[in-house]
Amino acid sequence: MAGTGVFAEIVDGDVYLYYTEGEWKPSSSGKNVPIINPTTMKTQYKVQACSQEEVNKIMESSKTAQKLWAKTPLWKRAELLHKAAAILKEHKAPIAECLVKEIAKPAKDAVTEVVRSGDLISYTAEEGVRTLGQGKFLVSDSFPGNERTKYCLTSKVPLGVILAIPPFNYPVNLAVSKIAPALIAGNSIVLKPPTQGAVAALHMVHCFHLAGFPKGLISCVTGKGSVIGDFLTMHPGVNCISFTGGDTGVSISNKAGMIPLQMELGGKDACIVLEDADLDLVAANIVKGGFSYSGQRCTAVKLVLIMESIADAVVKKVNAKVAKLTVGPPEDDCDITPVVTESSANFIEGLVMDAKQKGATFCQEYKREGNLIWPLFLDNVRPEMRIAWEEPFGPVLPVIRIKSVEEGIHHCNASNFGLQGCVFTKDIAKAIMISDAMESGTIQINSAPARGPDHFPFQGFKDSGIGSQGITNSIEMMVKVKSTVINLPSPSYTMG
Ligand code: G3P
Repeated sequence: MAGTGVFAEIVDGDVYLYYTEGEWKPSSSGKNVPIINPTTMKTQYKVQACSQEEVNKIMESSKTAQKLWAKTPLWKRAELLHKAAAILKEHKAPIAECLVKEIAKPAKDAVTEVVRSGDLISYTAEEGVRTLGQGKFLVSDSFPGNERTKYCLTSKVPLGVILAIPPFNYPVNLAVSKIAPALIAGNSIVLKPPTQGAVAALHMVHCFHLAGFPKGLISCVTGKGSVIGDFLTMHPGVNCISFTGGDTGVSISNKAGMIPLQMELGGKDACIVLEDADLDLVAANIVKGGFSYSGQRCTAVKLVLIMESIADAVVKKVNAKVAKLTVGPPEDDCDITPVVTESSANFIEGLVMDAKQKGATFCQEYKREGNLIWPLFLDNVRPEMRIAWEEPFGPVLPVIRIKSVEEGIHHCNASNFGLQGCVFTKDIAKAIMISDAMESGTIQINSAPARGPDHFPFQGFKDSGIGSQGITNSIEMMVKVKSTVINLPSPSYTMG
């Protein structure tokens, strides 16, 4: 059970502690932040409301720990990461329980998130050992005009203190996708988990603690965004921010200053369906891509663009599948579970009502109880509707019927987002041309968008992000190149 057994030391009474200098501590603020269970809408857990002074102390110890860690051999870093991965997987049940209670993730998906996170850590350890041990050797005579008087050796050195801010929807997986690359590359980590999902993240951090990482190398600070949010992201001790989330990312990037940023801020991933597509495959991907975890994935299908001639057939097949989705509590492993907060549910409802008022066709009856919204496929959506452009982050999926492929591509490219997209067709040449024309970080051919496999590059264009993620790219992003140039005395220097 969460907060018991090996996890007993991370909680005091009914309030979870924060993690600093290798210890679990209460905040001197004496305050805490409640975490509301999206299903019961009652307080499920409480976490510490840390102060700015505590953030300052964390930054100091993080900097000190990083200096020593940077000298730790790669194989030793990898060994500890493998250990953390094994401990995490061993304790998948209590961590998954937190995900069910805090973010209403369906029970089986919650376990999958933890196991996937362990795999991600192990892969990162192995990838880091290989790639970080490699540098470059360059000679000057390959540049016109120079003789061979200079030799350059490059290596990869850590950035320093990495601030990791994952989102509520994958508070474990999208935390370790930042933590593991940072650590293998010789950095220290300050983790600020999302409020919903914080307790799962604290359990995950304890697995790193049990693995035996040095004190101060990993810290986890919880609290109110209004008190420590800007203070963390603008802190002079931070050398890089890796953020996944919503609009807050724009304000972070405006304030962060001259440090590397890795950001993923959501999307409006569109699915373009051509006439020759396998319609059963299309329907299966639309439903899985649009409705898994109730549409609360940045890579969820958020818009379907179907050629008019096949639209009726696709809508019929999708509706048949939507009718089979189970709706209810995450403990019962339902397909559709309550969305994360009441304000999210209200926002989704606002998009639905706007579409209704402007004439969209509701394929199912709109139904909501508390934070639980029944799956809804909206046909005949038009560009003047908000849902044609905005990201619901809920189980509500709009369809726009298109007359040409160009119309579909034009709509996608007019969006501020550019995370992923997908195209369904049997004509591979056409699919590649569409991929080339779409201004998105990734285009999937004949499959719904997805971040995984976790070692694939993952990047957003336009307002969807900065930088590229995925295991290898994240490791590369969390180092800087250091050159040492050996200069020979002069071209005329002789060996005799
Ligand atoms: O919403 C975050 C995004 O990374 C989802 O990941 O693997 O479900 O596509 P995935």
